[in-house]
Amino acid sequence: MTPLYAVFGNPIAHSRSPRIHALFAEQTGVALRYEARLAPVDGLDTALGAFHAEGGCGANITVPFKFDAWRLCARRSPAAQLAQAVNTLGWDEGGLWGDNTDGIGLVRDLSRVLAADAHAPLQGQRVLLLGAGGAASGVLSPLIAAGTRAIALWNRSAEKAQALAARHSALAAQHGVDLQVVLDPPTRWADGVINATAASLGGRTLDLPAGVLQPGQWAYDMMYGAHDTPFVAQARAAGARAWDGLGMLVEQAAQSYTLWHGEAPDTAPVLATLRAEITAAPSS
Ligand code: ATR
Repeated sequence: MTPLYAVFGNPIAHSRSPRIHALFAEQTGVALRYEARLAPVDGLDTALGAFHAEGGCGANITVPFKFDAWRLCARRSPAAQLAQAVNTLGWDEGGLWGDNTDGIGLVRDLSRVLAADAHAPLQGQRVLLLGAGGAASGVLSPLIAAGTRAIALWNRSAEKAQALAARHSALAAQHGVDLQVVLDPPTRWADGVINATAASLGGRTLDLPAGVLQPGQWAYDMMYGAHDTPFVAQARAAGARAWDGLGMLVEQAAQSYTLWHGEAPDTAPVLATLRAEITAAPSS
């Protein structure tokens, strides 16, 4: 039987993951089925159990289940453990294992766009991370490990940023990264700004003081869309170079694919295909 994979979320109809994994499978000549599965908001455990009984080999997990998935895993990677969130899981003789590939996806795509733009690499940079929810927690440890010099964490609710920073303080010390929570986003400070808030989802622009975003900076929105996201538009209007998170989506999927199939797909043509499809048919 063809190995079965899926992405679980609620809602899930919008997910691009089945398309991305189908493109990877076609490229690498691996036979697989990859489906989008809707789970009830309080029913991930049951849905995963049924999926595994049906022959499911592995799954991606998206909003709102990344924290539930983390709780369900018998074993977790160090990145997933720090994030307290899992976006990739599979079953082996030890039961359910979980990993989080979001941060690797972000660092890989960010490194790619910075290099293509002849920008300084991530190493040694001061980064402002906006948000402290699931998206931010998934990327913080790889950002620290990428050799950034300093990371300022800002969130509308400061206590969530404090908890996130506290969990990562030992890793930051180990890598010599100055990790701080800021109550106000610092002006004229960051080399790059990452939006991990859900503000773009609602089509809203973040209320940032003038000078947080500025010329010479890079800016990255973990959201993506057929058109510029509000954050990308806001950053460009302030003079920064800005990118959306479609590349991150493809890179995190590629890392999941590598974990399951032991082969790393070439992400560049898949990203190009996806970008063209999203631009041509935004609501599909
Ligand atoms: P996700 O898993 O997508 O990160 P989440 O855990 O609900 O979703 O977190 C959403 C993040 O976006 C949070 O950091 C949230 O701030 P709060 O912790 O204060 O709720 C942030 N957020 C959402 N809408 C926002 C807005 N309009 N302005 C600023 N931050 C916003």
